[in-house]
Amino acid sequence: MQAQTPHVAPAKSTPRAFKRLLVTGGCGFIGANFIHFVMANRPGISIVNLDLMTYSGNAENLADFAGSPRYTFVQGDICDRAIVDRLLDDCDGVVHFAAESHVDRSIIDAGPFIRTNVGGTQVILDALRARGAADKAVPRMLYISTDEVYGSLPLDRPELLFTEDSPITPNSPYAASKSAGDGLVRAYHHTFGLDLVTTRCSNNFGPYHFPEKVIPLFVTNLIDGEKVPLYGDGLNVRDWLHVEDHCDAVLTVMEKGTPGEVYNVGGNNERNNIELTRTILQLMGKGEEMIRYVKDRPGHDRRYAIDASKIRRELGWEPTRSAWPRALEHTIDWYRNNQAWWRRVKSGEYRTYYAAQYGKA
Ligand code: NAD
Ligand code: TYD
Repeated sequence: MQAQTPHVAPAKSTPRAFKRLLVTGGCGFIGANFIHFVMANRPGISIVNLDLMTYSGNAENLADFAGSPRYTFVQGDICDRAIVDRLLDDCDGVVHFAAESHVDRSIIDAGPFIRTNVGGTQVILDALRARGAADKAVPRMLYISTDEVYGSLPLDRPELLFTEDSPITPNSPYAASKSAGDGLVRAYHHTFGLDLVTTRCSNNFGPYHFPEKVIPLFVTNLIDGEKVPLYGDGLNVRDWLHVEDHCDAVLTVMEKGTPGEVYNVGGNNERNNIELTRTILQLMGKGEEMIRYVKDRPGHDRRYAIDASKIRRELGWEPTRSAWPRALEHTIDWYRNNQAWWRRVKSGEYRTYYAAQYGKA
């Protein structure tokens, strides 16, 4: 788990140029930001977005591209082999975001997490494998994994960071399901020679973030004059990266990553939850009385912290949009300026979830 693991850089390959990417889960937080990023930065790439539209999928996130000849939306399930086979026929790359993504929901019911994060990933991998066996072109796939596969670091050893060689020791059902998908990707590269790459990123923040996750939840509660539910002692640490820096890393790994390799992504921006909450309160002109201390999350991982030196060194990626607290302030502004977006999201099923998860204030 030490920061510096000796590493021999694999030979550099020529960057790939993609024509048509299949993006799974493109109506969610990071997938939607990634589609915006590609549409703005790679005019030669068109996108097919396969999304089931679960509670966290929102077509409004991509309303800008309605009618664009470069953007196609297909509502469907990554577990549906026929749809995946059909869409792969037209694509030369796959960026696989689709997942159940919220730790607290995985504690309520792990079923959908195993189905999509493990079973769905297997369906895509088998579809890729079958193309190779049938002598069809086999697109490269990038699996969006997470730093949560590494488990938890102790608070009293700040020098420890997760490297790509840290043991995979997931602690939540969410992290376990992502680890299983991550392991399948490794196995299908090793066993079948598929062109697969993996990123393991730290916590993201930015626009279009579903307001069950801590930053958009706290910001939108405060806009409405509601208290923010802080778990346990609030000392748990997360390593925050702006979502656009993550999108840049994903595109960099798609274009320049070495087959079979894993790349950590993070911005060396560790904050504990109390510090994060106080910064949000300060930026929004609110006082500490708006904090409501609530029961801790079961099995709550203490600290995540990423060593991203490999992607910086080998692929030249640098985070440029995560400066703290400015990037957080801009994010708060986005939620202030896009109230219709999150007010629609916070109605309906969200209310039932919120009441069950947090009870009455
Ligand atoms: P999200 O919950 O906002 O979006 C997930 C999307 O996947 C939704 O649009 C949903 O409709 C879609 N989806 C779910 N099941 C599907 C299925 N069976 N078939 C097709 N589509 C389906 O999640 P997010 O925060 O955008 O996370 C995206 C990916 O990034 C996930 O794989 C997650 O594990 C990973 N990740 C997230 C973070 C973070 O901070 N949010 C950090 C590191 C890695
Ligand atoms: P979250 O946004 O759920 O991301 P993850 O669990 O994947 O890191 O939570 C980030 C941190 O914020 C985590 O330590 C749990 C904490 N948290 C709260 O204190 N209160 C909340 O209501 C939520 C959702 C999270």
